Amino acid sequence: MNAKKNIWRKVSSAVLVSCGGFGFFTALSVYKENEQFYRNVIMPAVRKLDPETSHNIAIMAAKYRIFPKTKFVDGSNLGTEVWGLHFPNPVGMAAGFDKQGEAIHGLQDLGFGFVEVGSVTPLPQPGNPQPRVFRLVEDEAIINRFGFNSDGQDAVHKRLSEFRKKNSSALVGVNLGKNKESPDSVPDYIMGVQKFSDVADYLVINVSSPNTPGLRDLQGEKPLEVLLENVLSARDALPAPMRRPLLLKLAPDLTAQERKDVASVILKKKCKVDGLIVSNTTVSRSPSLSSAFREEPGGLSGKPLSKLSTHLIADMYLLTKGTVPIIGVGGISSGQDAYEKVRAGASLVQLYTAFTYHGPPIVSRIKRELDQLLREDGMSSVAEAVGKDAQKYLQSGANS
Ligand SMILES: Cc1cc2nc3c(=O)[nH]c(=O)nc-3n(C[C@H](O)[C@H](O)[C@H](O)COP(=O)(O)O)c2cc1C
Repeated sequence: MNAKKNIWRKVSSAVLVSCGGFGFFTALSVYKENEQFYRNVIMPAVRKLDPETSHNIAIMAAKYRIFPKTKFVDGSNLGTEVWGLHFPNPVGMAAGFDKQGEAIHGLQDLGFGFVEVGSVTPLPQPGNPQPRVFRLVEDEAIINRFGFNSDGQDAVHKRLSEFRKKNSSALVGVNLGKNKESPDSVPDYIMGVQKFSDVADYLVINVSSPNTPGLRDLQGEKPLEVLLENVLSARDALPAPMRRPLLLKLAPDLTAQERKDVASVILKKKCKVDGLIVSNTTVSRSPSLSSAFREEPGGLSGKPLSKLSTHLIADMYLLTKGTVPIIGVGGISSGQDAYEKVRAGASLVQLYTAFTYHGPPIVSRIKRELDQLLREDGMSSVAEAVGKDAQKYLQSGANS
């Protein structure tokens, strides 16, 4: 009996020591932003959960600031000025990750230079039925058809106001959507501009999500003109300190003519937005996609979107003669990808999908690599590289 007890005691202490050791090693690896540990242990474990559940867990972790603060210190060449705002680095979290404005502080801890909250709709709405997000692991991509699941403007505004009381240094954009059932889109966006101007550093008119019927039609010449003229005049009617930069987010699926039309509208004085976000997800499906989920309806993001968005950045940069600052987004997973977007015409960049595949260490890696690439090319700021290769990306063709 005693021998049995002894064995049991030894086994349990061995298990305890191993678990403790593994726990300690995990904590240390997370603390040290060990990329290999994330790649080989944490992210495969995360992928065992369905994508929406793991996303909700990530939001909770960021909300309660479970991720340790990054050790990476932004070098001075990463800092950049756009719209009179100083960004400590040009790498932001794209819209869609923190739709409800719950995780900004946690994302700032990871080293993002700015965070875009939303899309937020005027009234709360549930979005499309689940499942509505799919991992295309082999393609390092995601297809989503969330359809603007939003807590609504009141709830998100309340959260952002609370956040602002505690943290005034974070740069936060608010991405505005429209309710699915709204008969007229214009008032929805106007309401968003009026609501969030006291808490946001910039605002985004999102007319490019593929999952709200008819939304992308607002990118057409006439509807876009009406929308921008009205939204800009509502913005300009606000007291001066609340007139935030207004950006327009575009789809990568615009034809050459549609791109020209968008440029001609936003160059008109009454419709001149302060910036563009290029791009949202694509509804196209490259034949090279190999994942089983490739035919799921929705917007595709991640690696397969990279070239499409870079070409649209170059197009829009040249069509607007570099007069409209661009946030470049789509398939960025390395410093090289970010640098290409900058050289194509982006003043700032964002990512989402690669973050879900690589976890928090990707933020520091992108910044470190970008810093190195700028130095290698003898540049002391991101601004110096903006648009340097726009012509090259234009000439290489939109669908290459
Ligand atoms: C799951 C998911 C949800 C998204 N939701 C939004 C959204 O609500 N509003 C928006 O403007 N973009 C949304 N996006 C698009 C991203 O902001 C970004 O433009 C796109 O994913 C390309 O970047 P990436 O390849 O780095 O993910 C979403 C993307 C994903 C993957």
